[in-house]
Amino acid sequence: MDKASFVSITDLSKEEILSLVRQTKYFEENPNQTILNGKIIATLFFEPSTRTRLSFETAVNRLGGRVIGFSDASTTSSSKGETLKDTIKMVSNYADLIVMRHFLEGAARYASEVSSVPIVNAGDGANQHPSQTMLDLFSIWKTQGTLDNLTIVMVGDLKYGRTVHSLLQAMSFFNPTFHFVAPDELKMPEGYKEFCRQKGIKFFEHKHFTQDVIDQADILYMTRVQRERFTDIMEYEKVKNVYTLHNDMLATSKDNLRILHPLPRVNEIAYDVDDNPKAYYFQQAQNGLYARQAIICKHLGINIPEL
Ligand code: CP
Repeated sequence: MDKASFVSITDLSKEEILSLVRQTKYFEENPNQTILNGKIIATLFFEPSTRTRLSFETAVNRLGGRVIGFSDASTTSSSKGETLKDTIKMVSNYADLIVMRHFLEGAARYASEVSSVPIVNAGDGANQHPSQTMLDLFSIWKTQGTLDNLTIVMVGDLKYGRTVHSLLQAMSFFNPTFHFVAPDELKMPEGYKEFCRQKGIKFFEHKHFTQDVIDQADILYMTRVQRERFTDIMEYEKVKNVYTLHNDMLATSKDNLRILHPLPRVNEIAYDVDDNPKAYYFQQAQNGLYARQAIICKHLGINIPEL
């Protein structure tokens, strides 16, 4: 694969991850610059998005670059039957870097193989969401003061959740303890559990979202049950309301606990949690702007200070 692209969080070493975290800190303190002057970034979204697309585009705009692209593939020639390969080859004639979200697992890797410019994966099906992972890691580092030796509780759709898959792999460098809370239908896939076993990472599985597991958490990573990933809507109906975090469930949680969620949420975090100081999901989304500034610069080969 083209090393200039960012397809999977596993493309990065521990040192590269830590370097990006420190560069994200630099952009948090210096978000408005002109270092992308003359650069054109394409954002190709074959699947809906609010945060990822808008934060990538804001990242470019705040650094003086320009954005082309689409948020609705039905308005493009892919609706006339143009292949992904042809689309990518065309757009790589126009842009310096392509940010792409696609509904098919593996689409970003394929795009990176046919593109003449770097591809940044903005989510491919249930597979990977590596830029989300970088903002998640920055959020964890910022709120905990470290990435090491943390207890991370992942709750909800662990089967199709690309954000938890990428985060699990990234955290494997930092000796985490995981708790996976999911119904049988949405359990963490065996491949990711085997990954943990091979790396010697402790993990525990739970069907019930209990007070005991909440009270152990440094990070409570809530996720949405994703209707769009189910082929049988009846299966979705069975699990769609499986867990909801309410404010009173946080009364005995650790002081340093922070609640993360990649968003959008549906009903897995009650609105009464939003005012709790341990709720961090809106700041987490804000951190996406700075993380994506760092990612774009890295993949354009622009050197950035580390704080
Ligand atoms: N977290 C995330 O990927 O959000 P969007 O789907 O709104 O981009």
